[in-house]
Amino acid sequence: MVGDVVDWAALHTAAVTAMRAAYCPYSHFPVGVAGLVDDGRIVSGCNVENAAYGVGLCAECGMVSQLHLTGGGRLVAVYCVGGDGEALMPCGRCRQLLWENGGPDCRLMTPEGILPMRDVLPQAFGRDDLDQAAVREGNTDE
Ligand code: THU
Repeated sequence: MVGDVVDWAALHTAAVTAMRAAYCPYSHFPVGVAGLVDDGRIVSGCNVENAAYGVGLCAECGMVSQLHLTGGGRLVAVYCVGGDGEALMPCGRCRQLLWENGGPDCRLMTPEGILPMRDVLPQAFGRDDLDQAAVREGNTDE
């Protein structure tokens, strides 16, 4: 199964390539990220900032957009890097993006080694919470 054996070197190369395309004239902090999808493809993204600072896009936003644009699927492994090419921890918001599109078993390269998302975003809010609330309130579609 894709994800059992992850080519972390290939993911790192894709993340660094993406990082080099970053548009970050305000922070001067380039970020690149690459993800392995459960069908074997690799998707990637870079941060894209804006003169209206608050609407800047994190690298993970671009990667998740490419994931859906190119056929969807689930992220099974993710490598995020900063300008030095070293592993970078995704911001809190982007951990939520990874949770939605990879779930608890998706593995992330971190400065402390490879960790599953269940450890990177403990007690995460997700679809299950919405589904459980709908059941409690009797708002299911079935
Ligand atoms: N950034 C990302 O692209 N992903 C992260 O997970 C952390 C932060 C970007 C946003 C901004 O363009 C720059 O890094 C500095 O915060």
